[in-house]
Amino acid sequence: MASKRNASVANYSAKKPRRSKDEALQNGLLSEETATPSKTSRPQRIRRTKNVVEDESPASDSSVEEIQPPEDADESQNESKEKISTASKSLRSQGTRMKEAVDEKIFASSKKLKNSPQKRTENLDNDGSEPRFLGEPIPEAEARQRWPERYQSKKSKIVYKSNSSTTDEDDGAIQARRHYTQAEIDGCNVFNLEDDAHVQAEEGKPCYICKIVEFFEAIDGETYYTAQWYYRLVDTVIQDSITSIEDRRVFFSEIKNDNPLDSLVEKIQIARISPNVDVGTKMASIPKCDYYCDMLYLLPYSTFVVAPENTRTGSESCSTISCQIDESNCACESFTMQSPKTEVAVLDLYAGCGAMSTGLCLGGNMAGLNMVTKWAVDINKYACDCLELNHPETKVRNESVDDYLCLLKEWEKLCASFSLISNSSTNEQYYDFLEDDGDNEANEGDSDDDEEGDEVFEVDCILGICYGDPNESQQSGLYFKIHWKGYGESEDTWEPISGLGNCSKHIKEFVVNGFKHKLLPLPGDVDVVCGGPPCQGISGFNRFRNKMNPLGDPKNKQLLVYMDVVEYLKPRFVLMENVVDLLKFSDGFLGRYALGRLVQMNYQVRMGMLAAGSFGLPQFRMRVFVWGACPSESLPQYPLPMHDVVYRGVIPHEFEINTVAYDEGHKVQLEKKLFLEDAISDLPAVNNDEERDQMPYRSVPKTDFQHFIRLGRKETLFSCSDMEASKRMVYDHRPLKLNDDDYARVCRIPKKKGANFRDLPGVIVRPDNKVEWDTTVEREMLPSGKPLVPDYAMTFVGGSSSKPFGRLWWDETVPTVVTRAQPHNQVILHPQQDRVLTVRENARLQGFPDYYRLSGPIKERYIQVGNAVAIPVARALGYALALACRGSTDDKPVFTLPAKFPNIDSISSSTSEDLNS
Ligand SMILES: C[S@@+](CC[C@H](N)C(=O)[O-])C[C@H]1O[C@@H](n2cnc3c(N)ncnc32)[C@H](O)[C@@H]1O
Repeated sequence: MASKRNASVANYSAKKPRRSKDEALQNGLLSEETATPSKTSRPQRIRRTKNVVEDESPASDSSVEEIQPPEDADESQNESKEKISTASKSLRSQGTRMKEAVDEKIFASSKKLKNSPQKRTENLDNDGSEPRFLGEPIPEAEARQRWPERYQSKKSKIVYKSNSSTTDEDDGAIQARRHYTQAEIDGCNVFNLEDDAHVQAEEGKPCYICKIVEFFEAIDGETYYTAQWYYRLVDTVIQDSITSIEDRRVFFSEIKNDNPLDSLVEKIQIARISPNVDVGTKMASIPKCDYYCDMLYLLPYSTFVVAPENTRTGSESCSTISCQIDESNCACESFTMQSPKTEVAVLDLYAGCGAMSTGLCLGGNMAGLNMVTKWAVDINKYACDCLELNHPETKVRNESVDDYLCLLKEWEKLCASFSLISNSSTNEQYYDFLEDDGDNEANEGDSDDDEEGDEVFEVDCILGICYGDPNESQQSGLYFKIHWKGYGESEDTWEPISGLGNCSKHIKEFVVNGFKHKLLPLPGDVDVVCGGPPCQGISGFNRFRNKMNPLGDPKNKQLLVYMDVVEYLKPRFVLMENVVDLLKFSDGFLGRYALGRLVQMNYQVRMGMLAAGSFGLPQFRMRVFVWGACPSESLPQYPLPMHDVVYRGVIPHEFEINTVAYDEGHKVQLEKKLFLEDAISDLPAVNNDEERDQMPYRSVPKTDFQHFIRLGRKETLFSCSDMEASKRMVYDHRPLKLNDDDYARVCRIPKKKGANFRDLPGVIVRPDNKVEWDTTVEREMLPSGKPLVPDYAMTFVGGSSSKPFGRLWWDETVPTVVTRAQPHNQVILHPQQDRVLTVRENARLQGFPDYYRLSGPIKERYIQVGNAVAIPVARALGYALALACRGSTDDKPVFTLPAKFPNIDSISSSTSEDLNS
């Protein structure tokens, strides 16, 4: 029986304790309980204490009188975030990664053993024999060549001190006298190099799992092995966010450390298998084993990736994992080899006005990939109108994604019922009553009356299909939109399929036609699913956030639905976007869950945070992006920043490593950040009451940004003019019309940098930067009888905010473009005109090309723009996606965009070279 020995294993978890405790903990890799060295201290396995980085609650919330909390927590929290940012760390450039975060994380996961090994005499179930190496040592020359760091100097200090849980601080490798290929524990258990093994953990905890990659005797005579660790799912960033029944699944890592020989427990069998999104096929391929392994887990960017054949790093140990992809078994066949002109079909969920997929397709096309948004879904009618207006090539559906998923499943059944597909991926029933080729024409008779004399309506044709309750009859199900013979359009109705049993001919016609034109995607039709499922349950302004069970909050349900769609359609690639709160709320539970679901579905994943400003916008806007790729594809990388922007906001320490940035010390010349002036100074002056939807530009572009953003639809892609530039109009250059009171207030705000309500008469700014009334001045009233300076401005964020009625200035950037345009609690006034920024100005800050038009009432247009993924970010990600599709990526998580991206003239040549090489 295996003896109960302990090994001090590297902080095996991706979890990071609060910084204040870190240093102490790191010194000995001790758990919080064992941070004080003690002879009896047990080695740490995983600390899974909750480590919530407190959200800054919206301090402003309770003190605002007339102001509704903004919908976008990002913006609303800026004030407190900025304070934290500047107080706790110097403002950093977003261009470079916070290196200490990376170092700390790797360090915490790889630091070598520093606790004393458990005395063998303390273990009752061993036979008393000392662990020992067997056989001849590896010849010295070979050992020196394979492990040169172990033979640097005979004089080097030994790190390990027996009978003490403290060690000398020394980051060098333990120096070796000789290396071996075999060891014996308990007089009977023989271990070979490259064996997988169980390693003793704390009492009551499951064993650690490692591959033995070195056996060596240190120069003080102590015997060691080097472990390269496997992670169980719960020990990764995913933690326990998903309930996995796959206890046997482990993930190989690049994390190694040295441990005393007597902590080895037993040899185990770990099967290397091919990952496969067809879970059934994968499970069937697992031989008898203790565990199986199909992916690597890498800490940077929380990456789960299929190991390339033989080696990722060139390290000897990595070569032992070889996950050859059995493409024949993959639901997702690689399209690496496809011709560049093959269409790559995108489904945009929660599409809003379509910015995310628009940017993706622009970027993909710049890299020579024919990426097309074929389908898009959004519950907002105006957003759908906007999509249709700008994307005639897209089948836009105005419904909830929940209903859309049900519809897709019904559609597959219908297609199977009419033998359009061989079988259904769902095990649900087909529509039996449709199987007979129908033509129950006798039933679809000519008679206008049935036997009882009731009028019988005759179906002329079927116009549409939906799942849900279109008649609001409390009966959800599959419905068809019917045009009735002899009746007008206004008499069209939605009828449940159950009532159309005798209309199989019409249904068949509709389904066959829909199948032919890919009205709806079937599993396997979609190459890329993108979208940002709204998770309003994590918003800082939701007082009833369910911290204990974030997935139980209906407001977060769409994250589940999004993953369910992925699970059903099995696209080749997934791109999910969300707010950074995803990683803040409830210890990042939802972010972990998103990764977990994808890994559970056997997708490769990585998660990164990108700031829009880094890609050439005068707006910071940090967002989380999760890539997923089925095992036969290359996992897309993240584009490194091109512009230098200042780091803002608070990211939980554990996830700082996910910020996409150059490592500190990396010499890179980033382009300068852009300012408001770069983006909007060419737009014509308009008033508060401007109502025109389009108008001439009146001036030529003044900056590179303006020149590029004004390009036409075709020019943006192909460098050819689609409309004479001088004839082009500017669209949506209209502001939210302020009411008379607010307009009067705005007219009184001086046109200078930093101006806001504090510049109005009667307001004093105290030395502590809070406002108070100037009691020597009579309060000024507007003609309406309302005060010039409203109470809510004075009390916003306890009187410390300078945002109400704030003017932007030309040399400034905007934290985050949001969905509202009210000036009450955000800086949104034009520098020199008495109005808020127009829809077009906001669209420019989000990088929308000027040809992209918004739809609906003015407030809805602001919502479309404020909700959007910044186009330059999506475009850069689309470029990354295309590189992955074309197999042009390396195994790094990040890559550098071509110089001057997205300036197509310079890109087209480098792209074709890249892609043809
Ligand atoms: C953040 S916006 C998406 C923006 C979009 N990705 C873009 O780049 O333009 C979220 C969208 O989800 C939509 N939405 C919210 N709940 C939905 C649901 N259950 N089904 C479909 N759409 C939904 C909203 O109408 C909104 O347009």
